[in-house]
Amino acid sequence: MWDTWLEDAKPVMPVIVINDLADAVPLAQALVAGGVKLLEVTLRTECALEAIREIKANVPGAIVGVGTVVSPEQLSAALNQGAEFAVSPGFTRSLLDAAKEWGGPYLPGVATPSEVMQVREAGFKEMKFFPAVASGGRDMLRSIGAPLPDVRFCPTGGIGAETYHDFLELENVFTVGGSWLTPSKLISARNWQEITEISAAT
Ligand code: 3PG
Repeated sequence: MWDTWLEDAKPVMPVIVINDLADAVPLAQALVAGGVKLLEVTLRTECALEAIREIKANVPGAIVGVGTVVSPEQLSAALNQGAEFAVSPGFTRSLLDAAKEWGGPYLPGVATPSEVMQVREAGFKEMKFFPAVASGGRDMLRSIGAPLPDVRFCPTGGIGAETYHDFLELENVFTVGGSWLTPSKLISARNWQEITEISAAT
């Protein structure tokens, strides 16, 4: 699924925090207008699930997923609202089982080779590498790629406009996530134009 989506979307994934539901649609429109289409709406605020539903219903071109999923209940709640993919900061047995049953694009979070092996054993080949910079960044991903070349990552955490390219150069990185694409200051100011400019420049 990721490869199909990425044919037409920039290989970056904004980690989105929506505090006010009214911001969801214009923010997503601003990102899509600049070519950033894979949108991870995190379950860190009350209105996150509604935000997913609104974006899905009103923003053509957006591929909206759910982030910060820490329980199977959250996964199914987000899928009910139309989330097309899901991301977790880590993984649990029950989450892996629930995601497996769903069968859709799910990125469990990992930070060590043993975690990569556990998640791979559960049948997943794509993972979120989190927290990317604090866990060793590019060097760690390159090192993991040597013994575990069939796994691909979306590194997230501590990556910004100046560094995301360095991660995308790695063979085992298929997209890069982070909050740099949707600065909270610009969202509070409803400065959608500048968010489109960041998206377009990415
Ligand atoms: C995440 O949830 O993926 C991270 O909090 C995003 O990290 P960043 O704010 O450093 O980009």
